[in-house]
Amino acid sequence: MSSVRGEFSSRFGFIMAAAGSAVGLGNIWGFPTQTASNGGAAFVLVYLVLAFCLAYPALMAELVIGRHGQANAVSSLKKIAPNQPKAAFVVGFGGIICAGLILSFYAIVAGWMLSATLSPIAEISQLSATATWLNTQSLGRDLIFTAIFIMMTIAIISKGVENGIEKWSKRLMPALLGILAALIAYVLTQDGAEAGLKAYLVPDFSQILNPDLLVSALGQAFFSLSLGTSVMIIYGSYISKQENLVSLGAYVTLIDVLIAFVAGLLIIPAMYVAQEQGVQIFSETGALLSEDTLVFQVLPALFNSMGDIGYLVALAFFALMSIAALTSSISMLEAPVSYTVENFGMNRLQATWIIGGLISIISFVIVFNFSTLFGFVISLTTQFGQPLIGMLCCIFVGWMWSRHKLLTEIQMGYGDVEHSVFWKIWPWYIKFVCPIAIALVFFNSL
Ligand code: PHE
Repeated sequence: MSSVRGEFSSRFGFIMAAAGSAVGLGNIWGFPTQTASNGGAAFVLVYLVLAFCLAYPALMAELVIGRHGQANAVSSLKKIAPNQPKAAFVVGFGGIICAGLILSFYAIVAGWMLSATLSPIAEISQLSATATWLNTQSLGRDLIFTAIFIMMTIAIISKGVENGIEKWSKRLMPALLGILAALIAYVLTQDGAEAGLKAYLVPDFSQILNPDLLVSALGQAFFSLSLGTSVMIIYGSYISKQENLVSLGAYVTLIDVLIAFVAGLLIIPAMYVAQEQGVQIFSETGALLSEDTLVFQVLPALFNSMGDIGYLVALAFFALMSIAALTSSISMLEAPVSYTVENFGMNRLQATWIIGGLISIISFVIVFNFSTLFGFVISLTTQFGQPLIGMLCCIFVGWMWSRHKLLTEIQMGYGDVEHSVFWKIWPWYIKFVCPIAIALVFFNSL
């Protein structure tokens, strides 16, 4: 089967694809919102530490599993632990299910973003229509735009690794960066932005050891790096043995963290600019009123206050969100598709449509039972599934594989790891520190 497997054609291609998976609604919506509801700069600081000290090593574990196995998540885990095929199946398949379920709610949110991208065009005469549009519950809109978004995801994934994932990530990621830069330049020159920058960048150190803050920051880091979903295993499996895995993983982490940080520079000041203009965003104690306010109230209000240019800015912002969501959703669909293709010998086009269809059905069920299911599926996957499976991947690499084989795999395309202090420590780190730290944070959150 391996002869028909795809492979990323270049370093740049892999970095764009994996960073594309990582950079998503989690960075542009989740991170700034979490920051605003968890004490501003203190959260940013804790997040940076956890992202580099826990999430990056865990990301390396998943990439190593995939690159070694050169196969879908289940088969790659089985190669690491040939004596534990059942455990390998549970972890790999669990990750695949997690990816599919995340896609089922992610596509709904992405559908809102798509529809919001179109609304300023449709309602040129009145931008506040965007806010009304987003705040009005509409079954029809949700179903149609969720389906359109999943179809876009299917169209890319059915083309395979090089002509689908890589080609589109290389187009969409630079577009995303351009739009983000333009938006920041605009918002930071507005009145009120300065107070927002202060809240974002000056930490209140008394908050730093707050357990809630730690739990939120770790969950955010795992979600943002797409961990515990088999996604990074499968992307790792498309990297050639000549590539330096270690630096690739570092680039992906850096880009992900940087874009979350930069998105904060856009959103947090935007909140203060909007508050200045009379939109109620923070309570009297300074707490964020609702996590939903950001995209549904703050930004539309802000766009509305901008006059004519507001249309353009709204269009750019929602296009940015849609693009970020698409490069993430393709990675979520690739996890189950690659498994189906390799395990059942199905052709890619067929597998993509069948799985995409199944996920659409789950999304529709969520749309119809929104108040009970939406939040439930989000907590099930992001609070339980991802940390648990991410931790088990660390345990696979740390405990079920020999240190020698692990270092041999990393050494390919890297050179002699024995001279690097970091790689002397890492196997031990992945064996003890990561699983224990993840477990602590996980049980704390229960
Ligand atoms: N990392 C993506 C984001 O931040 C979400 C994601 C989660 C993608 C899990 C793939 C798998 O939006």
